[in-house]
Amino acid sequence: MGSLSLRDVAKSFGDVKIIHEVSFDIPDGGFTVFVGPSGCGKSTLLRMICGLETVSGGVIEIDGTRVNDVPAARRGLAMVFQSYALYPHMTVFENMAFGLENIATPADEIARRVGEAARMLKLEPYLQRKPTALSGGQRQRVAIGRAIVREPRIFLFDEPLSNLDAELRVGMRAELIDLHRRLRTTMIYVTHDQVEAMTMADTIVVLRAGRVEQVGAPLDLYNHPANVFVAGFIGSPRMNLLSGKVHRLDDAGVSVELPGHGVFTTTARRTRLQVGEPVTLGVRPEHIRLDGDHNMLAGGVAGVEQLGGLSYIRLAESEVTVQLPGQTKLGFADTARVHLPADMIHLFDADGLAVPRVGVTA
Ligand SMILES: Nc1ncnc2c1ncn2[C@@H]1O[C@H](COP(=O)(O)OP(=O)(O)O)[C@@H](O)[C@H]1O
Ligand SMILES: [Mg+2]
Repeated sequence: MGSLSLRDVAKSFGDVKIIHEVSFDIPDGGFTVFVGPSGCGKSTLLRMICGLETVSGGVIEIDGTRVNDVPAARRGLAMVFQSYALYPHMTVFENMAFGLENIATPADEIARRVGEAARMLKLEPYLQRKPTALSGGQRQRVAIGRAIVREPRIFLFDEPLSNLDAELRVGMRAELIDLHRRLRTTMIYVTHDQVEAMTMADTIVVLRAGRVEQVGAPLDLYNHPANVFVAGFIGSPRMNLLSGKVHRLDDAGVSVELPGHGVFTTTARRTRLQVGEPVTLGVRPEHIRLDGDHNMLAGGVAGVEQLGGLSYIRLAESEVTVQLPGQTKLGFADTARVHLPADMIHLFDADGLAVPRVGVTA
């Protein structure tokens, strides 16, 4: 078991409120990622769940039991840090066994658990080495092994791969997902990297400035961002976001005037909006096309990136990025006219909240 529930959890350091009444539920057995920009409070939230930090308000429940006042050691959780936090004078085996020795686990049980974790993490050949004789990736595996042997109800990972180089990071992501598949234990993983969130999570909690912006499955967030922040944060290259004004309200959708570019039709529902109201029009680079006879946006090509299998062009002034299939003949200073398909346009109101689309229930 390892379900987690946060109700109006808040945290202040002195007069400064860092976490603002955060509420969400994490079901048993899932892989949940907290993602948000650096400084938004991810580590603070994780440390409160773990019991390394007190809460200033609200309730944290693990498996239905309030744990606000339960010390970290008795919450049944295990945390893995970015910095590994290994003991340099101990061998890999001793590092993994240390926590179990502290709670007077019998030696044969320790040997069994460490052996099993070492096998899972391919650390068997290194058990007698000191951490200094290991690569960064191996050290991070030891830190993960130390968590596994404790057989926690929930694993908490705080940016565990940030110190690894790009290639190793991709490999370790796959290993962690595989580990989760085998252990089936609840995992909460913190990262500032939205690609990591998209590729690893079954549920993503998007945080900004101590508040939850949206909770959902990766593709739900991608396809139906609840607000401008999530729209711009999830997806790479990011969604194009253009400021405009409501031009007309029709039952089939709202049309929007983008200053200097004309009027664009969308399938956003007319409810809640008024003519003249400022809105933000969002469209992902891969949804923009070169062919079309309406909803056309023109601009000089200010940048071209040829990746071989696909290309990106960036238009001057509007700063719109367009993803094109294959290789493009367009070059710097050419003029491009691109089509923004109405049913691929996301519309956000003056408060930055997504306007529901006609015929879409999400
Ligand atoms: N012990 C502390 N005392 C005062 N401020 C803190 C403390 N820990 C974190 N903060 C502040 O809380 C905010 C969130 O920090 P943190 O949770 O580390 O963010 P993240 O992990 O998302 O980068 C930051 O502004 C940070 O400076
Ligand atoms: Mg952090």
